[in-house]
Amino acid sequence: MNSPARIAVLASGRGSNLQCLLDGIGSGQLDARIVGVFSDKPGAAALDKVAPELRWASAPKDFDNREAFDQALADAVAACNPDWIICAGYMRILGTGFVERFNGRLINIHPSLLPLHKGLHTHARAIEAGDAEHGASVHFVVPELDAGAVLAQARVPVLPSDTPETLANRVLTVEHPLLLASVALLVTGRITEQDGEILCDGQSLLRPLRLDSAGVLVG
Ligand code: GAR
Repeated sequence: MNSPARIAVLASGRGSNLQCLLDGIGSGQLDARIVGVFSDKPGAAALDKVAPELRWASAPKDFDNREAFDQALADAVAACNPDWIICAGYMRILGTGFVERFNGRLINIHPSLLPLHKGLHTHARAIEAGDAEHGASVHFVVPELDAGAVLAQARVPVLPSDTPETLANRVLTVEHPLLLASVALLVTGRITEQDGEILCDGQSLLRPLRLDSAGVLVG
Protein backbone atom coordinates (compact mmCIF):
# COMPACT_ATOMS: atom_id res chain seq x y z
CA MET A 1 0.00 0.00 0.00
CA ASN A 2 1.33 3.40 -0.98
CA SER A 3 1.26 6.35 1.39
CA PRO A 4 -0.59 8.45 0.42
CA ALA A 5 -2.80 5.70 -1.01
CA ARG A 6 -3.45 5.82 -4.76
CA ILE A 7 -7.18 5.95 -5.48
CA ALA A 8 -8.94 5.52 -8.82
CA VAL A 9 -12.59 6.64 -8.94
CA LEU A 10 -15.26 5.37 -11.33
CA ALA A 11 -18.18 7.78 -11.77
CA SER A 12 -21.02 8.29 -14.23
CA GLY A 13 -22.68 11.47 -12.99
CA ARG A 14 -22.39 14.64 -10.98
CA GLY A 15 -19.57 13.40 -8.73
CA SER A 16 -20.61 14.63 -5.28
CA ASN A 17 -19.09 11.51 -3.71
CA LEU A 18 -15.85 12.10 -5.61
CA GLN A 19 -15.93 15.70 -4.37
CA CYS A 20 -16.22 14.52 -0.79
CA LEU A 21 -13.10 12.36 -1.24
CA LEU A 22 -11.25 15.33 -2.75
CA ASP A 23 -12.36 17.51 0.17
CA GLY A 24 -11.23 14.84 2.64
CA ILE A 25 -7.82 14.73 1.00
CA GLY A 26 -7.64 18.53 1.06
CA SER A 27 -8.50 18.70 4.75
CA GLY A 28 -6.09 15.93 5.72
CA GLN A 29 -8.86 13.51 6.77
CA LEU A 30 -7.90 11.08 4.00
CA ASP A 31 -4.29 10.09 3.36
CA ALA A 32 -4.66 9.52 -0.35
CA ARG A 33 -4.43 11.00 -3.79
CA ILE A 34 -6.80 10.61 -6.71
CA VAL A 35 -4.77 9.09 -9.54
CA GLY A 36 -7.55 8.86 -12.10
CA VAL A 37 -11.28 9.42 -12.66
CA PHE A 38 -12.91 7.03 -15.11
CA SER A 39 -16.32 7.33 -16.70
CA ASP A 40 -18.65 5.58 -19.13
CA LYS A 41 -20.24 9.01 -19.74
CA PRO A 42 -17.86 11.40 -21.53
CA GLY A 43 -19.98 14.38 -20.39
CA ALA A 44 -20.09 13.41 -16.71
CA ALA A 45 -19.65 16.39 -14.38
CA ALA A 46 -17.49 14.20 -12.13
CA LEU A 47 -14.68 14.37 -14.70
CA ASP A 48 -14.40 18.15 -14.34
CA LYS A 49 -13.44 17.79 -10.69
CA VAL A 50 -9.90 16.66 -11.53
CA ALA A 51 -7.15 17.86 -13.86
CA PRO A 52 -7.55 16.86 -17.53
CA GLU A 53 -4.59 14.46 -17.40
CA LEU A 54 -6.39 12.41 -14.71
CA ARG A 55 -9.58 11.94 -16.78
CA TRP A 56 -10.53 8.88 -18.82
CA ALA A 57 -13.93 8.61 -20.45
CA SER A 58 -15.31 6.46 -23.23
CA ALA A 59 -18.83 5.65 -24.36
CA PRO A 60 -19.52 1.89 -24.33
CA LYS A 61 -21.33 2.21 -27.68
CA ASP A 62 -17.97 3.01 -29.31
CA PHE A 63 -16.74 -0.50 -28.49
CA ASP A 64 -17.58 -3.79 -30.24
CA ASN A 65 -19.08 -5.32 -27.12
CA ARG A 66 -19.29 -5.07 -23.37
CA GLU A 67 -16.11 -7.11 -22.82
CA ALA A 68 -14.09 -4.78 -25.07
CA PHE A 69 -15.27 -1.73 -23.11
CA ASP A 70 -14.52 -3.39 -19.78
CA GLN A 71 -11.06 -4.41 -21.02
CA ALA A 72 -10.22 -0.85 -22.10
CA LEU A 73 -11.51 0.53 -18.81
CA ALA A 74 -9.58 -2.06 -16.80
CA ASP A 75 -6.35 -1.38 -18.72
CA ALA A 76 -6.72 2.37 -18.16
CA VAL A 77 -7.41 1.87 -14.44
CA ALA A 78 -4.46 -0.54 -14.06
CA ALA A 79 -2.17 1.94 -15.84
CA CYS A 80 -2.55 4.41 -12.97
CA ASN A 81 -1.46 1.74 -10.49
CA PRO A 82 -4.19 2.27 -7.89
CA ASP A 83 -4.26 0.76 -4.42
CA TRP A 84 -8.05 1.13 -4.34
CA ILE A 85 -10.72 1.52 -7.01
CA ILE A 86 -13.84 3.30 -5.73
CA CYS A 87 -17.14 3.21 -7.63
CA ALA A 88 -18.75 6.50 -6.62
CA GLY A 89 -21.95 6.74 -8.63
CA TYR A 90 -20.72 4.43 -11.40
CA MET A 91 -23.97 3.29 -12.98
CA ARG A 92 -22.78 0.54 -15.30
CA ILE A 93 -22.48 -3.09 -14.24
CA LEU A 94 -18.84 -4.21 -14.17
CA GLY A 95 -18.12 -7.53 -15.89
CA THR A 96 -16.60 -10.50 -14.11
CA GLY A 97 -13.22 -9.98 -15.80
CA PHE A 98 -12.97 -6.44 -14.45
CA VAL A 99 -14.10 -7.43 -10.96
CA GLU A 100 -11.68 -10.34 -10.75
CA ARG A 101 -8.75 -8.26 -11.96
CA PHE A 102 -9.19 -5.84 -9.04
CA ASN A 103 -10.56 -8.33 -6.55
CA GLY A 104 -10.24 -7.21 -2.92
CA ARG A 105 -9.60 -3.55 -3.72
CA LEU A 106 -12.75 -2.66 -5.65
CA ILE A 107 -15.33 -0.78 -3.54
CA ASN A 108 -18.82 0.58 -4.28
CA ILE A 109 -21.16 2.93 -2.49
CA HIS A 110 -24.79 1.93 -2.96
CA PRO A 111 -27.80 3.98 -1.84
CA SER A 112 -29.64 1.38 0.24
CA LEU A 113 -29.22 -0.70 3.36
CA LEU A 114 -27.92 -3.80 1.60
CA PRO A 115 -29.01 -6.54 1.20
CA LEU A 116 -32.21 -4.52 0.72
CA HIS A 117 -32.87 -2.84 -2.63
CA LYS A 118 -30.01 -3.91 -4.88
CA GLY A 119 -29.92 -2.27 -8.30
CA LEU A 120 -31.72 0.89 -9.39
CA HIS A 121 -34.47 3.18 -8.00
CA THR A 122 -33.60 2.32 -4.42
CA HIS A 123 -35.27 5.38 -2.88
CA ALA A 124 -38.61 4.80 -4.59
CA ARG A 125 -38.46 1.14 -3.64
CA ALA A 126 -37.75 1.90 0.03
CA ILE A 127 -40.81 4.20 0.13
CA GLU A 128 -42.96 1.68 -1.70
CA ALA A 129 -41.91 -1.09 0.70
CA GLY A 130 -42.90 1.06 3.69
CA ASP A 131 -39.38 0.92 5.14
CA ALA A 132 -38.97 2.96 8.33
CA GLU A 133 -35.26 3.43 7.59
CA HIS A 134 -33.17 3.72 4.47
CA GLY A 135 -29.54 4.60 3.90
CA ALA A 136 -26.33 3.73 2.13
CA SER A 137 -23.79 0.91 2.15
CA VAL A 138 -20.11 0.69 1.29
CA HIS A 139 -19.22 -2.78 0.04
CA PHE A 140 -16.58 -4.81 -1.74
CA VAL A 141 -17.58 -5.49 -5.34
CA VAL A 142 -18.16 -9.06 -6.54
CA PRO A 143 -19.48 -10.15 -9.95
CA GLU A 144 -23.06 -10.43 -8.62
CA LEU A 145 -24.69 -6.97 -8.53
CA ASP A 146 -24.48 -5.22 -5.12
CA ALA A 147 -23.86 -8.56 -3.41
CA GLY A 148 -20.35 -8.15 -1.97
CA ALA A 149 -19.44 -8.01 1.72
CA VAL A 150 -20.65 -4.79 3.34
CA LEU A 151 -18.03 -2.82 5.25
CA ALA A 152 -20.14 0.04 6.60
CA GLN A 153 -23.61 1.56 6.52
CA ALA A 154 -25.34 4.82 7.39
CA ARG A 155 -29.08 5.11 8.16
CA VAL A 156 -31.68 7.81 7.79
CA PRO A 157 -35.39 7.78 8.66
CA VAL A 158 -38.00 7.53 5.92
CA LEU A 159 -40.64 10.23 6.53
CA PRO A 160 -44.33 9.91 5.59
CA SER A 161 -44.02 12.96 3.34
CA ASP A 162 -40.97 11.64 1.44
CA THR A 163 -40.71 11.51 -2.31
CA PRO A 164 -37.83 9.59 -3.93
CA GLU A 165 -36.09 12.96 -4.38
CA THR A 166 -36.37 14.15 -0.77
CA LEU A 167 -35.27 10.74 0.46
CA ALA A 168 -32.33 10.66 -1.99
CA ASN A 169 -31.19 14.06 -0.70
CA ARG A 170 -31.35 12.88 2.91
CA VAL A 171 -29.37 9.74 2.06
CA LEU A 172 -26.76 11.80 0.23
CA THR A 173 -26.04 13.79 3.40
CA VAL A 174 -24.91 10.56 5.08
CA GLU A 175 -23.35 9.00 1.98
CA HIS A 176 -20.59 11.56 1.89
CA PRO A 177 -19.29 11.11 5.47
CA LEU A 178 -19.86 7.35 5.13
CA LEU A 179 -17.71 7.09 2.01
CA LEU A 180 -15.00 9.35 3.39
CA ALA A 181 -14.77 7.47 6.71
CA SER A 182 -14.81 4.09 4.93
CA VAL A 183 -12.06 4.98 2.48
CA ALA A 184 -10.02 6.60 5.26
CA LEU A 185 -10.22 3.29 7.13
CA LEU A 186 -9.43 1.20 4.04
CA VAL A 187 -6.26 3.12 3.24
CA THR A 188 -4.86 2.35 6.70
CA GLY A 189 -4.57 -1.26 5.51
CA ARG A 190 -6.40 -2.49 8.63
CA ILE A 191 -9.30 -3.80 6.55
CA THR A 192 -9.02 -6.74 4.17
CA GLU A 193 -11.52 -8.95 2.38
CA GLN A 194 -11.08 -12.67 1.82
CA ASP A 195 -13.64 -15.01 0.25
CA GLY A 196 -16.55 -12.72 1.08
CA GLU A 197 -15.42 -12.07 4.65
CA ILE A 198 -14.17 -8.71 5.88
CA LEU A 199 -11.33 -8.70 8.39
CA CYS A 200 -10.55 -5.72 10.58
CA ASP A 201 -7.17 -5.97 12.33
CA GLY A 202 -7.28 -9.67 11.45
CA GLN A 203 -10.64 -10.24 13.20
CA SER A 204 -13.77 -11.15 11.30
CA LEU A 205 -16.23 -8.23 11.03
CA LEU A 206 -19.50 -9.82 12.09
CA ARG A 207 -21.74 -6.94 10.97
CA PRO A 208 -21.15 -3.76 8.99
CA LEU A 209 -19.67 -0.79 10.84
CA ARG A 210 -22.16 2.03 11.22
CA LEU A 211 -21.70 5.75 10.89
CA ASP A 212 -22.53 7.55 14.14
CA SER A 213 -23.87 11.10 14.38
CA ALA A 214 -20.32 12.47 14.66
CA GLY A 215 -19.40 10.91 11.31
CA VAL A 216 -17.30 8.20 12.95
CA LEU A 217 -17.51 4.49 12.05
CA VAL A 218 -18.35 2.36 15.06
CA GLY A 219 -18.67 -1.40 15.54
C1 GAR B 1 -25.06 8.25 -5.24
O1 GAR B 1 -26.28 8.38 -4.54
C2 GAR B 1 -24.59 6.82 -5.23
O2 GAR B 1 -24.85 6.14 -4.03
C3 GAR B 1 -25.40 6.24 -6.35
O3 GAR B 1 -25.39 7.23 -7.34
C4 GAR B 1 -25.30 8.51 -6.72
C5 GAR B 1 -24.14 9.25 -7.34
O4 GAR B 1 -24.08 10.56 -6.89
N1 GAR B 1 -24.84 5.01 -6.82
C6 GAR B 1 -25.57 4.02 -7.30
O5 GAR B 1 -26.78 4.07 -7.40
C7 GAR B 1 -24.78 2.80 -7.72
N2 GAR B 1 -25.65 1.70 -7.92
P1 GAR B 1 -22.79 11.44 -7.14
O6 GAR B 1 -22.47 11.33 -8.63
O7 GAR B 1 -23.20 12.82 -6.76
O8 GAR B 1 -21.68 10.92 -6.29
